[in-house]
This record gives sequence, structure tokens and C-alpha cells, in this order.
Amino acid sequence: MLLGVNIDHIAVLREARKINDPDPLDAVSLAKRAGANQITIHLREDRRHIHDMDALRIVQNSALPINMECAIDPETLNTVIDMNPHRITLVPEKREEVTTEGGLDLINNFEAIDEISKRLQEKNIELSVFIDPNMFQIKMAKSLGVQWIELHTGSYANIYAMLFSNLKNTHHCIKELDLPRDELYVKLQKSLQELEESTKLAHELGLKVAAGHGLNYQNVKNIVNIENIIELNIGQSIIARSVFSGFENAVIEMKQLCKR
Ligand code: PXP
Repeated sequence: MLLGVNIDHIAVLREARKINDPDPLDAVSLAKRAGANQITIHLREDRRHIHDMDALRIVQNSALPINMECAIDPETLNTVIDMNPHRITLVPEKREEVTTEGGLDLINNFEAIDEISKRLQEKNIELSVFIDPNMFQIKMAKSLGVQWIELHTGSYANIYAMLFSNLKNTHHCIKELDLPRDELYVKLQKSLQELEESTKLAHELGLKVAAGHGLNYQNVKNIVNIENIIELNIGQSIIARSVFSGFENAVIEMKQLCKR
């Protein structure tokens, strides 16, 4: 299983002080040494963490392939395409959200993505779309000619957290999932089944399947076990663990869990 390490949160920490430390670029060679296969960064419209200069320096200096996430926003997309990363992952984006909520709607954005897809083919940049595990979205992805899909594991991760992380009765309790354990368990199985079925269909259609969002050292194994998911993109939990055990160790441990 390939591991893409999302290093946005290093820039989040830097932005907390608006200085130049820590520098996300410093993470790239450490990630490579620890066994990561890719670096993922998200150039948000509001540039709240990764800035243009970070992205450019990372693309120009990285020994690992760069997967750049961005919204269907013409200005950001032009910036990202000019940097010539290995892959662009289109994600939905709302300014007020804390992190990416829900997958991209390929139906409502079909024409825009079709145009982007053609543009990237000319430039030899791979295109991925971050979508919910939904059969219809996967068929749409196929007809858009993308090479990759990234399945949103956020719902699975939220249910897992409510079941096993004592979130109940804390202010991080997810209200719509404040349910009895047996109901949460059924939901967890259903979310895994959706991920499995979506992966199967995407694989049959010839799409490469990545997954990510909310994955951590506890919940990742169920996703690793889904046949034909070939890459995970993980950020928050790796950077969180780095605070206590160091970035390189955190990546090594996650890479270990990604083994089948
Ligand atoms: N994949 C995509 C498309 C994302 O938007 C994010 C969050 O930036 C991730 C993976 C990583 O999510 P997390 O930080 O929860 O591991």
C-alpha cells in the first residue's frame, strides 16, 4: 500500500505564529527516508496553511511525487497547473469549513472537470477526484477520463471515532452520530461495505483507487484490508503523533500499518 503524507498541518502550526518555522519543505526528505511514497499538499483558496511559495518550493525540490489538492477555482487551478505537480486532486472546498467535508459532486461539476481533465492530459499531469464512496460518482469519474479517484473515508472515521474513542460526552461529540453502540456498529459495517463496493467497481472500470481523510493509527487497518485500494493519503494523525514521537517515527509507524 502506497502512503501519501499530507503535510498541510506543518504549515498550520507555522501560521499559528505567522513566522517561517516549521517549514513544510523540511518534512519532504524525512518523509522519504521514513518510507512515504508521496507528499500531498492542499493549496486552499484562502491560503490558510500552504502558500504558493511553499507549494512551488516543494514541487521543485521534492524527491517524492507531489499530489496537489485544490478546488475547482480558476485562479488556484492555474497556479497549481503552472507548478507542474505529478498529480492534481480536485476537492470540494468551503471557506468556513475546518477541513474538507464530503466528496466532490461530479455531476454538478461535470463540464468544469471535463475541461480540466483535457488540460491536464495535454500537460501529462495525473488527475484525481476526491469523492464519496458512491457508485454513480464512480461511473461519472470514469466518463471524465480521470486516472485516479480518492475515496472519502471521513464518514467511516467519524463512526469509528464515536464507537471507540470516547468522544461521547465531550465537546467533540459528533451530534448526528450520538447513537447507541449497536447502531454505530451497523453504520460502521455499512460504511466499510460502501468503501469496498466502490473500490471494486472503480477497479473494474480501470481507475486507480486512493482513500483518505480522518485515517489514523487505530482505524487505518480496516481500510488497508480493502483489496485494490492502492494508496492512502494521511495528514492530521501523522502530524499529531509527530509532536510526541517525531515526524520520521510517525511516518515509519504509519507505513508499517499500511503493510498488507
Ligand atoms: N485526502 C484529501 C483529499 C484531503 O482533503 C485530506 C485533508 O486535507 C486528506 C486526504 C488527509 O486527511 P487527514 O488530515 O484527516 O488525514
